Amino acid sequence: MERHRISPEITVLSDHAVVPGIGFLPVNTFVLHAEQPVVVDTGLSNPDKDYLTALAGVIDPADVRWIWLTHPDRDHTGGLWRLLEAAPQARLITTFGGMGILSCEWDVPMHRIQLLNPGEQLDIGDRVLTAYRPPLFDSPVTVGFQESRSGAFFASDCFGGAMSTAELASGPDLRDVPDDDRRAAQLLWAGVDSPWVRLVDRVAYGRVVDEIRGLDPSAILSTHLPPAIGMNEQLFATLAEAPEGPEFSFPDQAALEALLATFEPA
Ligand SMILES: [Fe+2]
Ligand SMILES: [Fe+2]
Repeated sequence: MERHRISPEITVLSDHAVVPGIGFLPVNTFVLHAEQPVVVDTGLSNPDKDYLTALAGVIDPADVRWIWLTHPDRDHTGGLWRLLEAAPQARLITTFGGMGILSCEWDVPMHRIQLLNPGEQLDIGDRVLTAYRPPLFDSPVTVGFQESRSGAFFASDCFGGAMSTAELASGPDLRDVPDDDRRAAQLLWAGVDSPWVRLVDRVAYGRVVDEIRGLDPSAILSTHLPPAIGMNEQLFATLAEAPEGPEFSFPDQAALEALLATFEPA
């Protein structure tokens, strides 16, 4: 896992997942170095991952006060339970629906939950976090936010895109990616993660994109894209294009068998 201090306020812990046929999908989590420190998402759930140790290289987990879980998909919950143990002061920010999904598998400590819906705000002492539902999402309980001091927008799965190399996927800056590649990756991911976007009312969707564009984020921090600073124009243009993006079909059984054959010893 790579560690990037992209501003005095924000550290990115950058991991990635290899997705056959798609590429190297960034899987980021973020530490917001606020008076009451916030961890945003907790990484992949694979057994070989050790999110807590990686996080401890950035902040003493005992100092974490808030864990913002943008949604409870497994690429966001990897270190969640160990972090809750290691951060006894921390409360878990989610929605009622997010809590319900978590409780299908785990014993959720309800006294440590902080519910926050899109449109609501949370005052964390030296700044305010304002919750928004990002324009694209793969879970109905997804909530991102903008923080008031730096203006960074934490976008969850929205704006994601798989990269051509592991280095780019875990890199500190989206400006290192050729812009044509960036655009194609984001349109492909939109079709994979939010296939419903092809069905939406274009005008209504455009209004939602414009609402988030109007926040004028100082940085766009997606779980699945290298950090994007100074790229709002390109990223919102691509987001607006998503309903016209390519339709994605998942690989079929024959493709799986062909893939498995490549794993067999010669
Ligand atoms: Fe997701
Ligand atoms: Fe995700």
